[in-house]
Amino acid sequence: MNKETLARKLSSGDCLPLFQMADAVRLRYCGNGVHLRAIVEFSNYCSKNCLYCGLRRDNKKIKRYRMSPAEIFGAARQAAQAGIKTVVLQSGEEKAGLGELFPLIGRIKKELGCAVTLSLGEKTAAEYRALKDAGADRYLLKFETSDEKLFRACKPDSDYSARFDCIETLVSLGFQTGTGNIVGLPGQTVRSLAGDILRLKELAPDMISVTPFISNPDTPFAGTPCGDLEMTLRVLALSRIETPDAHMPATTAIRTLHKEGAGKALACGANVIMPNFTPILYRPHYSIYPGKESIIGDPSVSIRDILKMLEKMGRKVAPGYGHGRRHHTDSPL
Ligand code: 5AD
Ligand code: SF4
Repeated sequence: MNKETLARKLSSGDCLPLFQMADAVRLRYCGNGVHLRAIVEFSNYCSKNCLYCGLRRDNKKIKRYRMSPAEIFGAARQAAQAGIKTVVLQSGEEKAGLGELFPLIGRIKKELGCAVTLSLGEKTAAEYRALKDAGADRYLLKFETSDEKLFRACKPDSDYSARFDCIETLVSLGFQTGTGNIVGLPGQTVRSLAGDILRLKELAPDMISVTPFISNPDTPFAGTPCGDLEMTLRVLALSRIETPDAHMPATTAIRTLHKEGAGKALACGANVIMPNFTPILYRPHYSIYPGKESIIGDPSVSIRDILKMLEKMGRKVAPGYGHGRRHHTDSPL
């Protein structure tokens, strides 16, 4: 589809046929299985000041924390014991602290038998290489918006083309790479969302995350409206249709926006859920946006709820590692 067609499908027409088509594409390319990825939000320190995000450095209202390697490993072990085969280590964009991660990545892989995904923001090529050498399998770095003007307005201390260079570097280093956007940023247009979908198609990443913008009162975007649920699902569905074999999560933000958001996303293209294994103690402080904490709950309860929902939908938990579909079969780590 070209930009005009995408913009039209985003802004008008019945969404049901679009969602059904995305669901059929998901079934054909990814099957019926839903991959579970355990997310551990191990640090909320961030050196950047993105206008939409509660972890921005100027937000003095949150208590900053960094989990110790033993705590991170403990959370990863809990995930492995729950049968989850991927651990996602996420933090704000910290200046230091990578050193501690290298041995930890190796231990999570060897001792727990889990694949490791990292989501640590923009790093140098040498740092990405060192993380890859330490054994990391995947890396998530969303471009957030493909609209350069909007990007500059929302991410004052990031450079637009440097961000895309990072994504390219990750791909060239052999990471299974994930990227994506935010839907409903203040000032974003339907044409710019259509541009995001085209950019996703061009990048052909292994994973795509589409999240609605959720307004955070402790940021400069306080009081602005949140992203629209239906628009987010349209972007998700069109991204599935245009990039059929990517893994796409039903994101926490969609679940925060609507209590049945996970089921809705799974019915129009998503095939991944990311249960939260951050220790309860730290959860309230990883406040990218409000309302997130109340929906994630205790991991064992949330996994039980996920299983119930999948059963109702005629879906199941996918076995194996759920590597990027173009990279691997389900080969061991
Ligand atoms: N609403 C939705 N998503 C957000 N993120 C940051 N702030 C918000 C918000 N207010 C997302 C960004 C980032 C990820 C860690 O969290 O997409 O990549
Ligand atoms: Fe930091 Fe990422 Fe939040 Fe920006 S989006 S403030 S880089 S955690």
